Parts: sequence; C-alpha cells; structure tokens
Amino acid sequence: MSTPPRRLHLNAFLMTPGHHDAAWRHPDSQPHRATDVTYFQQLAQTAERGKLDSIFFADGLAVWGRLRSNVSGGLEPLTLLAAIAAVTSRVGLIATASTTFNEPFHLARKFASLDHISGGRAGWNIVTSGSVNEANNFNLEEHIEHRVRYERAAEFLEVATRLWDSWGDDAVVLDKASGVYADPERVREIGHAGPFFQVRGPLNVQRSPQGWPLLVQAGSSEDGKEFAARHAEAVFTAQQTLDDALEFAGDVRARAAAHGRAGLPLILPGIVPVIGATEAEARALEDQLTELQVIDYGLGQLSAMLDVDLAGYPLDGQLPEHILPTEDQVNGNKSRFTLVADLARRERLTIRQIIARLGGGRGHRVVAGTPEQIADALETWFRAGAADGFNIMPPILPTGLDAFVDHVVPELQRRGLFRTEYTGTTLREHYGLPRPAAQFSEPVLASASR
Ligand SMILES: Cc1cc2nc3c(=O)[nH]c(=O)nc-3n(C[C@H](O)[C@H](O)[C@H](O)COP(=O)(O)O)c2cc1C
Repeated sequence: MSTPPRRLHLNAFLMTPGHHDAAWRHPDSQPHRATDVTYFQQLAQTAERGKLDSIFFADGLAVWGRLRSNVSGGLEPLTLLAAIAAVTSRVGLIATASTTFNEPFHLARKFASLDHISGGRAGWNIVTSGSVNEANNFNLEEHIEHRVRYERAAEFLEVATRLWDSWGDDAVVLDKASGVYADPERVREIGHAGPFFQVRGPLNVQRSPQGWPLLVQAGSSEDGKEFAARHAEAVFTAQQTLDDALEFAGDVRARAAAHGRAGLPLILPGIVPVIGATEAEARALEDQLTELQVIDYGLGQLSAMLDVDLAGYPLDGQLPEHILPTEDQVNGNKSRFTLVADLARRERLTIRQIIARLGGGRGHRVVAGTPEQIADALETWFRAGAADGFNIMPPILPTGLDAFVDHVVPELQRRGLFRTEYTGTTLREHYGLPRPAAQFSEPVLASASR
C-alpha cells in the first residue's frame, strides 16, 4: 500500500480588518463590523469553502494603547465560535484562552461545550497572557513572572485534561426503562491538589466528540518551547527566515521527541500573503497599506514589542541599541522581542523602516506576489521541513481571505499539496491527530454526588 502524500495544514487567523495595522483604513476592509456576528460567520464559511483545517481568533484580556488608531475590542472568541459553529459544518474552530486569568474548571467546561456544539471542531490556543495591562484587570498591579505563568499553565492543562477525561465515553447509559441516566462508575472525581489548583471534579459536561479540544500553543521562549514540546499538538509561530524557521522546528521537534512525542507538535508558521494578479499589483497593495500606516501607532507597537519607549528618537535613525533590554529582562513576549531586534540588526533598518516592516503582520513573514509565488513560498518551507502547514494571516479582510481561497488554494491543490475535500468531520481528523482515550485511574465519585 502506498502512503498518502504528505499534505500541508492551513489555519486562517481572523482579525476584524485584517492583519496589516493600516487595513482598517483601506477601502476594502470592514472595520465597522467588529461586533457583527454575521461578518465572522461569512469569513468562516469562506475558510470552509477553501477546505481549510481551521479558523482561529486571538484574544487579550485588556485594551492597551491601540484604541486611537486601530480596531480594538470585539467579541469574546468562545462565544463567537459557538455562533460560527451553527452556520458551518467542517472547519475547525480555535479560540484563544488564558491559563493565567482563568480557572481550569471554567475553561474545561467551555471547550467541552464548544466541542459538543460544533460536533468535534474545538481547538484551544493556550496562552499565558504577556501584558501587564491584563494583570491590571485581574487584581494585580504587577504582572506574574514569565516562568511562574508557564508553571501555572502546565498545571492548568493537567487539570483541564483530567476534567475532560472525567466522563467515560460510555458513561451516559440513558436507560429510561430501568431509570439509569449515567453509570457512576464511569464518571470520576479527579481529586487534584497542586500548588496552583485544588479541583475535585468531575466536570459537569459529558465527554465531548473529540475528547479534548485540539491543543495549540504559541510560545517561543525557552519555557514556551518546552511547554509546546510537552503538551501542544500544533504550534503557531512567527519566523522571518527559512533558517530561523528550520532551527525553531528542529528544536521543538527534538524536545518533543525527548518527551516521547515524536511527530508532534505540528508546526504552523504565520504568513501574511499580499496577493495580486501580478507581482506589481501585490507590491502596489503593500505600498498602499504602508502609506496608510499611522506612525504613532506603529511606534507604540514597536516600543511594546521591544519593551522600551522609543518616543522622541529620530524616525530615520537606526534603533538605539544602548537602550534595548536583553531577552532575559523582558517579562512579556520574549520571543517576539528577539525576532524584532534581530530583524532590525540584520537589515540595519531605521525606526521608520521597522515600523513599515512590522505593519504587515507584527513580525510575521510577509510575502507579496501572485498566487503562484505565494504557493511557492509555502511549498519551499513545507518541503524543507520548516513547517507542517501555515497560519494564514490575510493583510485585509474579507478580500485577502477570498483571494487566498479562490487563487492560492487551487494552486496548492494542483500541486497535490492540499486536500480537495474534507476527509473527516472533526478538527483532530483534519490535522491527522488521534482522539485521546479517557483515562480512568482516579477514585470513583464520592457517594455524596452519586
Ligand atoms: C500566531 C500567534 C498568535 C498568538 N495569539 C495570542 C493571543 O491571542 N493572545 C495572547 O495572549 N498571546 C498570543 N500569542 C503570544 C503567545 O501565546 C506567546 O505568549 C508569545 O508567542 C510569547 O511566548 P514566549 O513568552 O514563550 O516567548 C500569539 C503568538 C503567535 C505566534
């Protein structure tokens, strides 16, 4: 029997106006629809038309400094995805949720619910929340230390997975004749007691179609990569060059193999495809977006990424090296800091040039060209082993997703690199990942709850 060809996985990362920080000012974008559920339902239907594996919403638990010059705020991802589930049938639905500012019982319950509502299409982008503005909304003046956030995340995930496993697949007997709804032997307490959480369980949601949602993660620091290697089934990441992407993928895969998880996690670098009928058309769109950038906004974003205040430094001068911290000193998003600092050094960019370069995708790789050129860019990284698929970040929505689905997907299909039909119904099936079996090593229900 011949092995099926290795195919790439595609996730659509959706943000109201698109990923370019000036997208909301472009005539094609629809920033007025930030809280319009039908807008996102239509985007999801487009992704499904393109047979994409999944769609994904990022999330943060604060509004910080972006209000004036970009779309800010919007719908909570799990709620939104439940509404999207109702008008789609195949595309996977990945929501971001924080392990720092939630309790595991809450999130285990919500993701199990979304998995039921969607017929097995839920995925969780596990984040530890990098910003002090988020801490300020949860009773804290200072942010929790990076390392401690990851320790909490590991215990959080352990509790959540045990809660999902607390109902056996066959726990619900539903025998009207004998009066038995569920078999108490098949629903277990988890009896968890750890440094961060004490949770008795079981969960108050029956076991869901996938058992667990797909576990996605995006940390790239040492702690982040270690977490991904131990727990993630798919990883979102930002890399500018093929060499960096190969190094990252090799590192995470080797760590995962050391934990007995060979073949995991799937690595999905982000790419911002600026698509034109000709290369000149794509470049013109890129230039048009750069022209529309609000420099103060870009400067604020760059300052946040580099953890320094760049206000007052000459825009046409190079980045003032002497004021930059080291990655060790950054308590927020460590890996993005390093990516941006390296980019500026490697290409000797001025502050204004860095702002232009980051406008497209906040540090993600931007490729402008024809559908064939975009397909080439994806194929090269895929064949080189730097990616198992991609996180597609259209610069403008909805037009950028339409262009990708209508022109790049068919090109990838022609090359045999992407599915022409869904072969499964669950998100795990799209990504070729198994459904976890429920573990039953814990005490049965306390008699009081029988
Ligand atoms: C594609 C992508 C999407 C992300 N989405 C979110 C998000 O929605 N919310 C969030 O708090 N962090 C998000 N992050 C940040 C990561 O979760 C992580 O904190 C970051 O990559 C820094 O990780 P590190 O601290 O291990 O370096 C995202 C990162 C990437 C690459």
